[in-house]
Amino acid sequence: MTKLIGALDQGTTSTRFVIFDDTGAIVTFHQIEFEQHYPHPGWVEHDPFELLDSCRLCIEHAVNKLIKLGYQVSDIEGIGITNQRETTIAWDKKTGQPLYPAIVWSDVRTQNTVDQLSKKSPKGVDALRSICGLPLTTYFSAIKLRWLLDHVPAVAQAREHDRLVFSTVDSWLIFHLTGGLENDGVFVTDVTNASRTMLMDIHSLSWSNESIRFFGFEGIELPQIKSSSCIYGHIKQGALTGFAIAGCLGDQQAALVGQKCFETGTAKNTYGTGCFMLFNLGDAIPPVLSHNGLLTTVAYQLGKDQRPVYALEGSVAVGGSSINWLRDNMHLISDHHQLNELAASVEDTGGVYFVTAFGGLFAPYWKVDARGTICGLTQYTTRAHLARATLEAACYQSKAVLDAMNKDSGTPLRALNVDGGMSNSDLCMQIQANLLGDGVLVTRPKMRETTALGSAIAAGLALGVWKDLNDLDKVNKEGETVFRSQLSAESTERLYSGWQKAVTRSLDWAEP
Ligand code: G3P
Repeated sequence: MTKLIGALDQGTTSTRFVIFDDTGAIVTFHQIEFEQHYPHPGWVEHDPFELLDSCRLCIEHAVNKLIKLGYQVSDIEGIGITNQRETTIAWDKKTGQPLYPAIVWSDVRTQNTVDQLSKKSPKGVDALRSICGLPLTTYFSAIKLRWLLDHVPAVAQAREHDRLVFSTVDSWLIFHLTGGLENDGVFVTDVTNASRTMLMDIHSLSWSNESIRFFGFEGIELPQIKSSSCIYGHIKQGALTGFAIAGCLGDQQAALVGQKCFETGTAKNTYGTGCFMLFNLGDAIPPVLSHNGLLTTVAYQLGKDQRPVYALEGSVAVGGSSINWLRDNMHLISDHHQLNELAASVEDTGGVYFVTAFGGLFAPYWKVDARGTICGLTQYTTRAHLARATLEAACYQSKAVLDAMNKDSGTPLRALNVDGGMSNSDLCMQIQANLLGDGVLVTRPKMRETTALGSAIAAGLALGVWKDLNDLDKVNKEGETVFRSQLSAESTERLYSGWQKAVTRSLDWAEP
């Protein structure tokens, strides 16, 4: 009998519910885009209830599609959850209502908060790196919560009255799906999501009193931290009532699991809204801390008695979202497909570089005052050159991250497993292989919903669909495509030095 696993993937711009069989093949899925709110330059917000509704709707629609295909709902063993990370929701314990919109990971309103917090320690932005593996930047949840306490009276009042609850998107969704306020919802998070808050000690996998004191968060209710693979609770409403939620991972860690990067030294790059490269560091404690602009994070812990595995991460803030910008703001293209056609219609960018630093640059540069910059325009430039420069921007930034990873890990990476929207473009992946050079193979699986698959794997391991990691050999095995460099080392070097020059032009641009 076929065993099916559902995976709820709540991402930055869309939500999907994917139903896999036990070979990792997609049986059916449903996807919904939801609204992005940009109330001021650099601010990005979501409506927490819209996120929840999109999840419920995706589940309902996908289950209906499954039944139309001749399956029974009871063929589903349970579900896993994966989610946009760092996005922060503050809510009221008594009413269950959010006290403010969700502040999205890419939002940069908190730079002053970062500056103030950095002054509290002689280590500056590295004040807490030895505890949580992360520097102080606008990216992480604790900074966003500090901003909420300082700027939103309702949040400060809830805290005064011991009613303030802090959560990331996983905890918000699991709480509501398992019953919410009325029906004893469970308030949990997993080690990977918790490792993006700056509040968890990544060695002990528990909330760090030192970090909590540093941010001034004493008394705020935090979710219970669990492993990424266990039964958190059961769904209380809708088509999957009674089904277990048994896997939970932040989306980038889920993609690492979905790509089956379980060996130390393997890595994946996801070209989603942003680009996120994760390199498996293994289970040695303490894990490597970066000296080259990367983050140390928990990659996964597949069961409460299993050792946590760590990863080095290079996060690039703008990847696929630059294509949406060309479509929605510039009206240069009508869809992603057209971007590829345009980009493929020219042999190169004609000397144009597009540094897509809309809200500063993340890894490995960490320059919050950088801004989007297009260099090298001439009268020869067409929108085709700009389209190609947009694809290249994600690839250049990924090359910069990979170089930093090689320095930090001391072991040159030989293969990069890729996924995410932009990886569908053969052209983009060939450009990536060209920029990474001869030593690195860019490997793309046929089934590229690896983020969803990772959370399905975590759930399936907890529910006995697969016995252990060895049992995953048959999962998503068929049909990978390998891209190899077609450029000489000199050409790559010349192109990359142009990019580095363009990056310097994009710096110090934001108003202080
Ligand atoms: O850290 C942010 C990341 O989790 C967002 O991923 O795929 O929603 O762009 P994505």
